[in-house]
Amino acid sequence: MYFMLLSSFNIDNFRNLSQTQLDFNNNCNIFYGKNGSGKTSLLEAIYYLALGRSFRSHILRRIIKYKSDSFSLFGKIQQKNNIVPVGITRSITTGKQIKMAGKEISSNIELTKLIPLQLLNHNSYFLLYEGPKPRRQFIDWGLFHVEQFFLSLWHKVERILKQRNVAIRTKSPIDHIKVWDKDLAHLGFELHQYRKQYIESLVPIAKDVLQKLLPDLSINISYFAGWDLNFDLEAILANNLKKDLQFGYTAIGPQRADLELMVEKIPAKDALSRGQQKLLLYGLKIAQGMLLNKLTNKKCIYLVDDLLAELDLQKCTLLANTLSDLQDSQLFITGLSQDFENIFITHTDKKKIFHIENGVIK
Ligand SMILES: Nc1ncnc2c1ncn2[C@@H]1O[C@H](COP(=O)(O)OP(=O)(O)OP(=O)(O)O)[C@@H](O)[C@H]1O
Ligand SMILES: [Mg+2]
Repeated sequence: MYFMLLSSFNIDNFRNLSQTQLDFNNNCNIFYGKNGSGKTSLLEAIYYLALGRSFRSHILRRIIKYKSDSFSLFGKIQQKNNIVPVGITRSITTGKQIKMAGKEISSNIELTKLIPLQLLNHNSYFLLYEGPKPRRQFIDWGLFHVEQFFLSLWHKVERILKQRNVAIRTKSPIDHIKVWDKDLAHLGFELHQYRKQYIESLVPIAKDVLQKLLPDLSINISYFAGWDLNFDLEAILANNLKKDLQFGYTAIGPQRADLELMVEKIPAKDALSRGQQKLLLYGLKIAQGMLLNKLTNKKCIYLVDDLLAELDLQKCTLLANTLSDLQDSQLFITGLSQDFENIFITHTDKKKIFHIENGVIK
């Protein structure tokens, strides 16, 4: 078994959180406290350590504690038998510093690979309510963690698209636009095959999870490549060039890939209640973690903000059980009251409960 745990965590000048050192449980960590106490900030800090960015703000000033100029986060990641120390400091004056196992690294990619992390919070609703981008990111998250060559392929496709779009926007000669089509079609198809295969592996696992969480509903998950697969993408790009010139960008291709979530032929966002939507989206993310484990033996860390919100007691318990069933996956869960610890009826040595008050975690 390949453990992937955040065993200890130091926080300094992050949001409202007091300077603190925390030792986490290997399984379930529960944080409760009033509105504004710092629960989401704590999850945000863990997320920041793994991904080098926040899920709430791109503005550094908003994340650093008021009246300070920098924040730092330091964690110990436990893998099998070894411990990897990781740290990130972001300063208004001296910039960004990321360290992993004593060495300074230039980007977070290695950290992100080291700590596969799933965020389950109200942003998850973007998967239903925004355009296809978050759904593509959802698929690509999985591929990033399981396919060694996926990231470089993805970058290549992005670069080609960018150059093709610049040529379109600047109304370059037709040849200067078409020069990208062959590579875009070829690499785009490769990208599509990765995505298709990933979704094919994910769907049966997701169906199992959703069967538990939403037993009365039959949810259909299907993947769309971004173009009509009955035709060659290079030919489509050529046929569509006139429209692309009108729009000012490449309208068809792998950059339009999407995931369709339907209930009895109705889009899930129209067919499901708010609580059902939450269970669907969290179920999909839980399934991704299970697939990751199946394919790579890695475990992902789950951050679950406000577990109880929008769910009745029975559904809450179902969700909690499903999360607890992810054996050895480390969970960080927040809620307003202590009551919900009873929902996790795991053995006491498998959970640790923290109280947060005015940024102080106990
Ligand atoms: N940069 C910052 N420095 C200090 N405090 C901040 C900063 N940014 C936000 N805060 C404050 O930190 C507090 C904690 O916010 P947080 O979102 O973590 O609360 P929460 O416990 O998740 O609350 P809720 O239950 O309402 O979701 C809030 O009072 C917020 O105003
Ligand atoms: Mg919150």
